[in-house]
Amino acid sequence: MYRITVIEGDGIGHEVISAAVEVLRATGVAMEFVPAEAGWDTFQRTGSALPAATLESVRASDAALFGAVSSPLERVEGYSSPIVAMRRELDLFANLRPVLSMPVPSSRPGIDMLIVRENSEGLYSGRERREGDTAIAERVITRRASERIVRLACERAMRRRHKLTIVHKANVLRESDGLFREVALAVAAEYPALDVEEMLVDTTAMRLVQAPERFDVLVTTNLFGDILSDEAAALVGGLGIAPSANVGERLGVFEPVHGSAPKYAGKGVANPTAAILAASLMLDHLGEHAAAERMRLATMAALEHGPRTADLGGDASTLRFTQEVVSRLQAG
Ligand code: NAI
Ligand code: MG
Repeated sequence: MYRITVIEGDGIGHEVISAAVEVLRATGVAMEFVPAEAGWDTFQRTGSALPAATLESVRASDAALFGAVSSPLERVEGYSSPIVAMRRELDLFANLRPVLSMPVPSSRPGIDMLIVRENSEGLYSGRERREGDTAIAERVITRRASERIVRLACERAMRRRHKLTIVHKANVLRESDGLFREVALAVAAEYPALDVEEMLVDTTAMRLVQAPERFDVLVTTNLFGDILSDEAAALVGGLGIAPSANVGERLGVFEPVHGSAPKYAGKGVANPTAAILAASLMLDHLGEHAAAERMRLATMAALEHGPRTADLGGDASTLRFTQEVVSRLQAG
């Protein structure tokens, strides 16, 4: 029996995570779902966006599912993004974002890549300050974090098409990306079977649109990975279907790439695919590969044959689409 902490968060997080849990139940894998809270609503009620009890629950679990949280654009005293804090607190150093062509009209064909994003430092290190009219954010890059993220990317590439693209901006960020680049090339050199290239981040953004099918595994620092993965998601049908995995040495927290989409909150129209696919990545992480694959096949079939949700041009509700996935899973 796996213990899974379930953090719905804010907005459509509630709807898409309920949907993912329903599909997980239909796989028959023995799981105990333990609810926990985080996010803006939690902050307003309790004064903490990420209560200690939530972190404890995740630590005591085999894995966690995370929906999305709302973060205000203005600075709010005492508030910081709980997902960023959770990644740091639990040392979930890798953010894996698979991008695969989908059977929907808005997806381009022939795409199968994995973006491996460093998840614990970079520009999201939390070292930001105001000094009068100047604001400073420190971009922290360490040898240790660069080494482990690139090693993980190389291992993944060895199980895929053996191609690795190291993405950086070392021509400008000479110290920080200079170190990342140096470490990445050294680690990648330990894998002679890999076809390794390096690419500047701006060029990568362009090549992603021009020729996405040329990429296999991309590895990069935190902010670049955040931006490139949203861009890549748009190539295969949008944020409604893009999943991600935050993994550390043992723990994993699985979430849709999208946020809380406040304009759709509570309306029952959000696309639960990203959350369902994130749940399938969670099953893979637990070693339940067969169930994960059944979940993916059922989801792909539901996307192909419909009914689809509004973001994909259909009129199905979150519940209706979820029922379709569940019935295909049970029939398959
Ligand atoms: P968002 O991802 O919430 O939504 C952007 C747009 O994408 C939506 O307006 C909608 O048109 C579409 N969309 C996203 N998910 C969808 C789904 N499942 N089904 C159908 N359409 C979907 O990003 P936005 O609007 O920039 O941010 C909203 C809030 O979410 C903010 O407070 C932001 O801080 C937060 N956020 C949280 C994240 C997290 O918890 N990991 C990640 C990104 C944003
Ligand atoms: Mg993002």
